[in-house]
Amino acid sequence: MSVREGEQTIDETRQGESFAPITGESSGESRKLYLESYGCAMNFSDSEIVVSILSDAGFVTTQDADEADLVLINTCSIRDNAEKRIRNRLQHLKRQKRLKPALKIGILGCMAERLRDQLLEEEQLVDMVVGPDAYRDLPRLFEEVSTGQKAVNTLLSREETYAEIEPVRLDKNGVTSFVSIMRGCDNMCTFCVVPFTRGRERSRDPQSIVAECHTLFEKGYREVTLLGQNVDSYKWNLDNKGQVKDPAVPVVRFADLLILVAAVNPDLRVRFSTSHPKDMTDDVLLAMASHTNLCKYIHLPVQSGNSDVLKRMNRGYTREWYLDRVAAIRRIMPACAISTDVISGFCGETLAEHESTLSLMREVRYDMAFMFKYSERPRTLAERKFEDDVTDEEKGRRLQEVIDLQSSHARARITDQVGPIYKVLIEGTSRKSEDELFGRNTFNGVLVFARGQHQVGQYVFVRASSATGVTLHGEVVSEAIANEEGYVE
Ligand code: SAH
Ligand code: SF4
Ligand code: F3S
Repeated sequence: MSVREGEQTIDETRQGESFAPITGESSGESRKLYLESYGCAMNFSDSEIVVSILSDAGFVTTQDADEADLVLINTCSIRDNAEKRIRNRLQHLKRQKRLKPALKIGILGCMAERLRDQLLEEEQLVDMVVGPDAYRDLPRLFEEVSTGQKAVNTLLSREETYAEIEPVRLDKNGVTSFVSIMRGCDNMCTFCVVPFTRGRERSRDPQSIVAECHTLFEKGYREVTLLGQNVDSYKWNLDNKGQVKDPAVPVVRFADLLILVAAVNPDLRVRFSTSHPKDMTDDVLLAMASHTNLCKYIHLPVQSGNSDVLKRMNRGYTREWYLDRVAAIRRIMPACAISTDVISGFCGETLAEHESTLSLMREVRYDMAFMFKYSERPRTLAERKFEDDVTDEEKGRRLQEVIDLQSSHARARITDQVGPIYKVLIEGTSRKSEDELFGRNTFNGVLVFARGQHQVGQYVFVRASSATGVTLHGEVVSEAIANEEGYVE
């Protein structure tokens, strides 16, 4: 998922419905791969692993599905509408295949894991089904489908982290990159399909993470986002009971990992996602506070502001616990942006419970939020235990209230950022004008300013002079002025 300028406060597309054909050179002889990715950042990061594995097997990538020998769709199951959209896409590809019978179509990712043989057998939509832990097997599976067979590998692993595979970067800006630090999820939030599609939680070797960040920095990248479903439970050389596995190997927890990555270079900015409120400890906050290149931004999904709903969701925290974590953030880092995810209309949600989500939002005043209608997912605990009893219309009405409130908070929070000088990492050309560039400050706030002689990938100092919607506008100032007046790192 590429990060966009002026990212919408209301983004129903983040987890499930975005689309990014990959780029790359194509040559006459090699087999050609076209890959489309949907879903969360983790899927986009996995696509980079997939391209790496298939490049080694002699594939070149193409942006044109029509000239491909192999079309892969990396899919998401998080909500029903995400799956529907992908099914439509697969139907379309199936029609293309009639015109070009040699074309092979494969489905990767969470839908592949969830539906397995169903897509092959019942619907005859694809030739190949490959789950998130089976990408090393792709070259072999392709050979199998080349002989006219169907191929499936949806085995989940307890160990696979693709640690040593160097991803082929598909993000075009060359400045910001995702780095996967763990896979899977051991939490059993009752609404969520991820534990079924991604398997058990496992952390990646810290040395390989740090090495990847070094390589990225050398290639000109200036920001990494460390990815995991629950980054706060990252651990190396500790078992699930917290016991040290090998006394000769250092123990690395998430706060330690942040410090290791921050040390790669002071000019490498570090972000991470997603923090889980039940596991977010003060040592992570203290690490952030003491390193200027650990960006002051935390994505802390709340899902609901009501403790009874949170219990039904099996989130492992209460409203009070969550607000205590927010208080800890504000205490340790007085200036830090916070964003969240909210689900409207979960099973049994009463009007009063919905109201408590609104009141929590008023207390926290999030900088940004992703907001969703509850979508029942097959096999989840919620599907088995609770009735999906809030009507679609009522879910929509509650969601709209959440969105309206959040929009006002997002605008207010951006307006609060007007005034100071910020250190800004330039990410690209503004969508509105070729003469303007955009970049982000530490709070993930987007600033737009005159292009001048500045280049993508550089840091500049920008005085934020006004805000429109959720975008800041400003003027670049010299380093001397920034130093004299002070700036936000
Ligand atoms: N691991 C992250 C979330 C990953 S899924 C965490 O625990 O915070 C991203 C978001 O999708 C979730 O935070 C939740 O808000 C939303 N989501 C997940 N399952 C959903 C469902 N069944 N219906 C609606 N939204 C859902
Ligand atoms: Fe899903 Fe919960 Fe795991 Fe997040 S923490 S991926 S919501 S089960
Ligand atoms: Fe979707 Fe799977 Fe990510 S379900 S949100 S692609 S982990």
